[in-house]
Amino acid sequence: MTLRPALFLFCGFIYFFSSPVFSDPPELKQTAVASAHPMATSAGLEILQQGGNAFDAAIAVTATLAVVEPMGSGLGGGGFWLLHRASDGYQVMLDGREKAPAAATRDMYLGKSGHVIDGLSLNGALASAIPGVPAALVHLASHYGKLPLRESLQPAIRAAEKGFAVYPRYQKLLKFRQPHLNPAAKNIFLTDKNEVPVVGTKIIQKDLAASLRRLAIGQRDGFYKGETAEKLLTAVSKAGGIWTQEDLDNYQVVERAPVVGNYRGARIVSAALPSSGGIVLVEILNILSGFDLDALSEVERKQKIIEAMRLAYKDRAEFLGDSDFIQVDQKHLVSMAHADKLRSGITDKATPSDFLSESPLKEGQDTSHFSIIDDDGNRVSATLSINYPFGSAMVADGTGIVLNDEMDDFSASPGVENGYGLIGSSANAIEAGKRPLSSMSPSFIEKDGDVLVLGTPGGSRIITMVLIAALDFLHGRGELEDWLARGRFHHQYIPDVVQFEPGALSESEQSELSELGYELKERQSSYGNMHAVLFKAKSRDLNAASDPRWLGSAEVREKAAGE
Ligand code: DON
Repeated sequence: MTLRPALFLFCGFIYFFSSPVFSDPPELKQTAVASAHPMATSAGLEILQQGGNAFDAAIAVTATLAVVEPMGSGLGGGGFWLLHRASDGYQVMLDGREKAPAAATRDMYLGKSGHVIDGLSLNGALASAIPGVPAALVHLASHYGKLPLRESLQPAIRAAEKGFAVYPRYQKLLKFRQPHLNPAAKNIFLTDKNEVPVVGTKIIQKDLAASLRRLAIGQRDGFYKGETAEKLLTAVSKAGGIWTQEDLDNYQVVERAPVVGNYRGARIVSAALPSSGGIVLVEILNILSGFDLDALSEVERKQKIIEAMRLAYKDRAEFLGDSDFIQVDQKHLVSMAHADKLRSGITDKATPSDFLSESPLKEGQDTSHFSIIDDDGNRVSATLSINYPFGSAMVADGTGIVLNDEMDDFSASPGVENGYGLIGSSANAIEAGKRPLSSMSPSFIEKDGDVLVLGTPGGSRIITMVLIAALDFLHGRGELEDWLARGRFHHQYIPDVVQFEPGALSESEQSELSELGYELKERQSSYGNMHAVLFKAKSRDLNAASDPRWLGSAEVREKAAGE
């Protein structure tokens, strides 16, 4: 036996015995919910209070976010729910990612000369893929929840009827998408004078409440058939889209095995394809596990992290897509042998990406994440999306449902950047029924019995945000609040630049990295909106935190006596 397999086996041994999956249900003293909006967090807690478990609470939070954060996610979108069931330690990723309609074709966004037509995969009905959120909610309730779907949907229905108050992030993202809003969207989200409403204005969504009620009563058929389906199809086809009733009938959620990795004895559990999140995250951590990060200076540490990001995002661009349609050698990509090879090419300087591209990421993207642990130890880490803020900027008349523009997550043409500056290969080309490659990375990080449940929106930067917070946890750098507040930096292979939030790199780090050959790009504003829950094995306490950048809310609630 050579040294490397021996070491590998040894690590596997440690990993097996220190693997902290709750094999016996832990019976916690508390429950915790962290999400992007106080009303969504309250909705989750309310359902827990009513005897629901984390999965019922996840339904309530998902549906309430659809109402109070209409720019981020919704019934017209998709998402990934990473689940941990405490009773038997079962972990699964519920894939509610949108699917391309049957009439979608590889070149549907290309003009006659073969160039990508600007905006066609981002704005309006043609940008929209078949939604997965409603089917996922039905699946969650019927397979994992304790309460009927109609009960878990009540807080969202109430929020849609009573309204939520406009807040600054809503205003900012609405302004960004205002030029593209269709009349139905304008009616709901703008004032009578077609202006962005002032902070505090109530946004009431009667049509959305009715759509939620039809889902609550009719279950799957309450969305994919009948009144809601008819209204969606009419609106989509009037606006030049290509959805059919057959597409709605054919939509299925899929339960997928999460991607699991091992970083120095800790267990990494994250999103499977069609999200690139788990593979890229584990690949980066595998590369980094060969460096003693704690022994490096702050700049040296960041330089290694940046190079690992670059290499893993290169694999993302070349190899990743929907594994129901293409062959992906996942085993190889997340293997230590592959990481060893990649690591051996990393020097103390920048290794330029193969070719350069000037296009920076566009500002103002949106999506949503929430994290839950209930008092039985069940966990949910869920990232939800309609892609761009307010998705395709189109509401289907009479439904209150914002349609996604997730088709832009496909690679419209090999090597051509999408809305997040990501490139892809034929692996992520458009095909009928295929799911576009995602970066959403709901994750569990399990170390010495402690568990961190986390995730964030942020397009292509999601994975590196989760990485930075996970490394803080894994290396004991501060407390939960610090991990979420930490300045973020990002490299995605193409464009060959290190993007960073204001303040994420000190002046001296910036000049040192420039000297090492990095092109740096400070973003105008911060990015991401991370919400996390932490279980501490020693005290058996929960802690929850929301990204300090926005208005998210995190709450830990003590179990009432006798519960
Ligand atoms: O699935 C994806 O990777 C993207 N549609 C996510 C978009 C996103 O996070 C926008 N966020 N700010």
